[in-house]
Amino acid sequence: MKLKKKAVSKSPRIAKKSVGRVKSVPKKPRITVLIADDHSVVREGLVSLITRKADMIVIGEAGNGREAVDLWKRHHPNVTLLDLRMPELDGVGALKGIIKNTTFGTALHTKFDTQGKLPEVPRPWQENLLHIGQEALTNTLKYAHARNFETRLSYKARELRLQLRDDGDGFKVKERHDGAGLTGMRERVEQMGGELKISSLRGKGTKITIVLPFNGESMS
Ligand SMILES: Nc1ncnc2c1ncn2[C@@H]1O[C@H](COP(=O)(O)OP(=O)(O)OP(=O)(O)O)[C@@H](O)[C@H]1O
Ligand SMILES: [Mg+2]
Repeated sequence: MKLKKKAVSKSPRIAKKSVGRVKSVPKKPRITVLIADDHSVVREGLVSLITRKADMIVIGEAGNGREAVDLWKRHHPNVTLLDLRMPELDGVGALKGIIKNTTFGTALHTKFDTQGKLPEVPRPWQENLLHIGQEALTNTLKYAHARNFETRLSYKARELRLQLRDDGDGFKVKERHDGAGLTGMRERVEQMGGELKISSLRGKGTKITIVLPFNGESMS
């Protein structure tokens, strides 16, 4: 069976031992996986693949975006396999929901704005933007000690723009050593033919801007 390409998102939280149907506690905590797809055949295929892996466990299956966000909130899985075109919630909705739920119980306030009439964004791009948003948020939670995290998605003059901003500690962009996070962001933006700009100042926060030339016609 050919499986659809999935958006894989890493959760910053660590697997809780109490999660899942693990009877005897394994030596190493297993990677908890949430599967969200409106096609039951695809879900079944993924479950059987994952169940064969000794170090992974499926902690939930969702048939639509809303269920996905609910399950995510309940279990905080390490990995989410998310189909971005599900009924009841699209990719933008999923990004919003995940940002809200990632910061649930933390002191970080989040804001999500859209500007202009958003075109239908190609599916691989939605997946890339979701990953980038999650990585920026994870970095903010890990390093910034910020109070606010703002996401702005806009479409104007054939440009799709995603801006992710925190008001935390900031860092010296020139001195930093990119980890997998910022490197991955750069690679994804390059792959989409866009531009990535990171501006950050100690004490003033961090702003990540992604600009993608896009004529509004879905290529997927
Ligand atoms: N929002 C932010 N606020 C403050 N510092 C940041 C922020 N984002 C990134 N940094 C700094 O830039 C460094 C590189 O980030 P990057 O995401 O590439 O790697 P990482 O988070 O250290 O590791 P990984 O993403 O592979 O888990 C971080 O270690 C951190 O010092
Ligand atoms: Mg990172």
